[in-house]
Amino acid sequence: MNNIKHSKPWDSDQITRDYFDSLLVEMRHIDAVIPSTKLELYGETFDTPIMMAALSHLHNVRENGMVEMAKGALAANAVNWAGMGDEAEIAAITATGARTISIIKPYADNEYISRRIEHAERCGVLAVGMDVDHAFGGNGKYDVVLGEKMKPKSLAELKEFIKSTKLPFIIKGVLSEQDAYKALEAGAKGIVVSHHHGIMNYAVPPLYILPKIVKVINHQIPVFVDCGIVSGMDVFKALALGADAVSVGRAIMEPLKINGSEGVKDQIIKMTEELAGVMARTCSVDLKSIDPSVIQYRKGW
Ligand SMILES: Cc1cc2nc3c(=O)[nH]c(=O)nc-3n(C[C@H](O)[C@H](O)[C@H](O)COP(=O)(O)O)c2cc1C
Repeated sequence: MNNIKHSKPWDSDQITRDYFDSLLVEMRHIDAVIPSTKLELYGETFDTPIMMAALSHLHNVRENGMVEMAKGALAANAVNWAGMGDEAEIAAITATGARTISIIKPYADNEYISRRIEHAERCGVLAVGMDVDHAFGGNGKYDVVLGEKMKPKSLAELKEFIKSTKLPFIIKGVLSEQDAYKALEAGAKGIVVSHHHGIMNYAVPPLYILPKIVKVINHQIPVFVDCGIVSGMDVFKALALGADAVSVGRAIMEPLKINGSEGVKDQIIKMTEELAGVMARTCSVDLKSIDPSVIQYRKGW
């Protein structure tokens, strides 16, 4: 038994890692071909289903970190995401040309949210969204993030935001069938199945709940997944269980720190090649044709 597992049995990142590692993959070689990893999303084509996560404050990692990440995503022809940051930062990120999804926090002030949606529209983002899982602190009170007050959003409020924009609106932080139904009802054009890198202990691993959520969504809108993805094999497992694309956060932060946009680009390409390697050995022609039945479950989960 390994020590990490025993020292932090509550840790959602650890539980999530254990679940990834519990999933086994069949091989299917006959009739296999060189696979395509191309992703069609919101009318545009990208070279990989591996997207940046909605990160923020990357100046702590590397000077101009958010812009460097965007440049890396652009160079790899991958979708970029951006989390909490001011308008100037979103403008600088989108000015790189990276196709960016802007995730706006659930600020208490709904007018401010509306202004941020309008600003994102003017910047020409690919989509906007909200990390609805970041409204509460762990103490059951409304969270305050870097001095900014948060507040949970009702279905009615989400409907209003979604109605207010022509852009696809993505709800980030869906980890139940209930929220998946509500996201559909709100008119969301995408969801991110995520526990926000362990915002709560004992959170269900995204891939564990993913097949149930995918059934609810039933191909009506794209389903994205993040949390703990560190390899092309992890990406493959997420896609096999029904994700349309994935986001990678912490696994691109070290390459970003060491090598800036080049590091980000290289990491995306490396993981995409790993993904292609598994696709080839599972007779998966393209992202849509990955057969969920290649996944076998170890006992105990
Ligand atoms: C430094 C850092 C900043 C983040 N900032 C945001 C944010 O502003 N908005 C958001 O929705 N998620 C934010 N996240 C969460 C990520 O988008 C993602 O859900 C999480 O890190 C899980 O992915 P990972 O395991 O690949 O890192 C942040 C994560 C990190 C590590």
